[in-house]
Amino acid sequence: MKFTIVSGSTRQSSQSIKVSKYIEHILGKKLHEECYLLNLATANLKFWDESFWQEDPNKFDANWTKARNEINNSDALIIVAPEWNGMIPPALKNFFHLAVKGEISNKPALIVSVSASVNGVYPITELRMNSYKNTVLCYIPQHVIVRNVGTQLNDLVSPENEEDKIIRERIESSLKVLIEYAKAFKTIRSSDAVKNFPFPYGM
Ligand SMILES: Cc1cc2nc3c(=O)[nH]c(=O)nc-3n(C[C@H](O)[C@H](O)[C@H](O)COP(=O)(O)O)c2cc1C
Repeated sequence: MKFTIVSGSTRQSSQSIKVSKYIEHILGKKLHEECYLLNLATANLKFWDESFWQEDPNKFDANWTKARNEINNSDALIIVAPEWNGMIPPALKNFFHLAVKGEISNKPALIVSVSASVNGVYPITELRMNSYKNTVLCYIPQHVIVRNVGTQLNDLVSPENEEDKIIRERIESSLKVLIEYAKAFKTIRSSDAVKNFPFPYGM
């Protein structure tokens, strides 16, 4: 199966891309799944404007077309969301304004939030509340908060403290659950009830 990891920070050398690359490493090397890493710091996705409402979704932005082709072929997503002023960053919000044409619909997703200190809850509540209605993304109940991220996941193999060891266990266990959801959601996406759901904008 194929997994898309969205690294939600637009800062160069962000902690989110470090966390995303660790997840890519575990998914690819240890769990033997295919990964596509969308780094919002380098993807240069155009911000939503009214030209998005033209009929052909591929005419909006060449960078988004490239990304959406990869995401269309994915079975599940991992959203890596740093906490910025108690929110997700604007580029990540923009991603959810673009991914409303079936790219991520009825696909399971794991949220991994990132905080330089002991916060990290706000991105989870914001994503769970606001990002699923028109995208039809399905967040699994498990999530991960990488707190004190500066001292976590700095080496792909060796943890540097007890917290680092535990967060690695949480990440791997949560990815294993996501893989099971991804298998089951193939059946869900192929069902007539889901394919023919007549209310594309939810309620
Ligand atoms: C604009 C901005 C606002 C931030 N606000 C918060 C915050 O509200 N809570 C928090 O725990 N960390 C906050 N941080 C620190 C981030 O958690 C920290 O930068 C961390 O490394 C994750 O972001 P990154 O992936 O961009 O590196 C903020 C960082 C930035 C750039």
